[in-house]
Amino acid sequence: MILTGQTIQNQKLCRDHFRLSLRMNRFESAGPGQFVHLCPAENIEGVIDYRTPLLRRAYSIAALRRQDTSVELDVIYRVVGSATRWMQSLTYGNPISVLGPQGNRFPIEPSKPIAWLVSGGVGLPPMLWLAEALAKAGKNVVAFCGAQSADLLPLTIRGDEPPSTDAGRATLSATEFAQSGVPVIVSTDDGSLGFHGHICAAMTAFHKASLPSSDDLVVYTCGPERMMRFVAEFCAIQKIECFVCMERNMACGTGLCQSCVVPVRDPEDAEGWRYQLCCTDGPIFEAAEVVWR
Ligand SMILES: Cc1cc2nc3c(=O)[nH]c(=O)nc-3n(C[C@H](O)[C@H](O)[C@H](O)COP(=O)(O)OP(=O)(O)OC[C@H]3O[C@@H](n4cnc5c(N)ncnc54)[C@H](O)[C@@H]3O)c2cc1C
Ligand code: FES
Repeated sequence: MILTGQTIQNQKLCRDHFRLSLRMNRFESAGPGQFVHLCPAENIEGVIDYRTPLLRRAYSIAALRRQDTSVELDVIYRVVGSATRWMQSLTYGNPISVLGPQGNRFPIEPSKPIAWLVSGGVGLPPMLWLAEALAKAGKNVVAFCGAQSADLLPLTIRGDEPPSTDAGRATLSATEFAQSGVPVIVSTDDGSLGFHGHICAAMTAFHKASLPSSDDLVVYTCGPERMMRFVAEFCAIQKIECFVCMERNMACGTGLCQSCVVPVRDPEDAEGWRYQLCCTDGPIFEAAEVVWR
């Protein structure tokens, strides 16, 4: 469904990241993991401004608030190119074309009491909504949030409880997760906040310190593909169920253009694999299904 949203806030969160909040009259039922495909409303009205992106871009839904007569939706974006520069310019009242909700949702596993959410860089946004949903479902949740440096972490860090440098200790340091009672482990590549090192090393250290039963644990991950591959392979070795949120360039976002393929295992295929579409079969895939390249 294509809707027009009104910008209600475009708040700077850290050096390159912003939270864009939109208000719409309605929005279909949606869940964590789904995304919206955004472009300037003018593109839809046929008034093409060549300074703005022609193709939509996908953004994970970071939060959704249903009110009596409207719906508010947040996305968090990092300014890297043409679409995100246009998004950065949006101010209160500016219209934006919203296609969505698109894609599938992170499954919430009734048999898994423990959930770990492992994100790196702009893989963080879908984890905020997922953490809220898992906490509401009564799960024991820990969020692992990796960034290159403290100024690239789009979280509000509590002054009275900074993230531990010890990857074995999760704390209620990030307001956005603490609101759902979810502790975090923060890592930075340069050691400027939390654990000094990669989030994969932090997750491995936390696993070693807490030794959860693999049967009880499910891991959800989103971020750079190398990071997700490490998490997927770690979980395969430990026999832990794992879901990945894949990212592909998406021209249509609706299954038509075939630009967003993800290779997945298929024992019935002669070569043992086939393509699925990130926009309609995903973006959430079982980690064990993905063929990493
Ligand atoms: C399902 C899905 C969910 C997504 N969710 C989010 C989200 O929540 N937040 C978000 O910011 N993006 C998200 N993306 C990525 C988003 O769709 C855009 O690709 C991204 O914002 C870049 O758009 P752009 O036009 O600004 O940059 P482009 O002009 O497309 O790219 C400019 C340059 O930046 C590089 N680049 C692209 N992305 C990044 C990056 N993340 N970090 C560093 N360099 C980069 C490109 O390789 C290119 O060289 C998601 C993508 C998918 C498929
Ligand atoms: S983006 Fe067109 S098929 Fe997925």
